[in-house]
Amino acid sequence: MEPLFKGRHFITLEEWTKAEIDKLLEVSKELKRKFLNNEPTPYLTNKTAFLMFFEQSTRTRNSMEAGLAHLGGHATFLDTSMMQISHGESAKDTAVILSSYGHGIACRNCFWEVGNKYLREMAAYSTVPIMNLQCDLYHPMQGLADLMTIQEVTHSTKNLKVSIIWAYAKSHKKPISVPLTQILLFPRYAMDVTLAYPKGYDLPNWAIEKAKENARANGGSFRITNDMEEAFRNADIVIPKNWGSWVNNQSTLVIDDLLESYKSWKCTEEMMKLASPNVYYMHALPADRGNEVEDSVIDGPHSIVYQEAENRLHTAKAVMTMTMGNK
Ligand code: CP
Repeated sequence: MEPLFKGRHFITLEEWTKAEIDKLLEVSKELKRKFLNNEPTPYLTNKTAFLMFFEQSTRTRNSMEAGLAHLGGHATFLDTSMMQISHGESAKDTAVILSSYGHGIACRNCFWEVGNKYLREMAAYSTVPIMNLQCDLYHPMQGLADLMTIQEVTHSTKNLKVSIIWAYAKSHKKPISVPLTQILLFPRYAMDVTLAYPKGYDLPNWAIEKAKENARANGGSFRITNDMEEAFRNADIVIPKNWGSWVNNQSTLVIDDLLESYKSWKCTEEMMKLASPNVYYMHALPADRGNEVEDSVIDGPHSIVYQEAENRLHTAKAVMTMTMGNK
């Protein structure tokens, strides 16, 4: 398969045109079909990638590791606490060295106001593609899988009512990168996007302005509400998920009074009844069951979370195939 985007960094989908994203989705669909039919996909034979994780992961790590094996290559998992990074080695030196050993570097660094800068510094010095496995601002692998899943379950994304809704959770102070990626990406596909959150959980102004611009340019719409019920009402897709108050409060404390005052922001069966009768429930996972969402919703007939998680494999393989081939 021709690596059409050979050498390109994959840090935010904002740097990829819609035609390029469509190509990645087309390749993802082909790779999914081949995987399900047990057909070989030796598109990255003898290629290697380094997967650097500053944080925990289940889906991202394993979709990349398994995915590269399916493509005939090998992924090396790197816990950054066991690298010389923990003794202060720079992003530049790490990128130069690792890129001389292989064909791709992927990294998750979600530290607020650090993660994206870290990836950008690696990209400035790496001779191989840098793939963002989630930073403080973006989660493009997740965004691509979300879009693939939405396209699989709907006839058209035009004027699809998609509500991205803050939800209560106390597992950890989560990055804003999933909702931020979604509000930028979905309006490009002409969806009518509602962002709902309680006061104090704002996303950055520049991202809101860009989401509006993307909606204007592509025939979608974008609005914000602080009313959870309004966001559920008549929605075709709901994505209730927690994110941290990073924009307003940089403390790393997980539980505070503000968070505790919004326990009622939960995706319940009652809320789901306000949405379209055929509404789909999505979540990037891991979900904080019982807090963000009731079990009966995430395990119920409207939920497509496992399809969404499975598509992480196929989209990760597409990104690697299109960017890492033929060094
Ligand atoms: N959705 C997602 O990125 O999952 P992990 O944190 O398990 O990789």
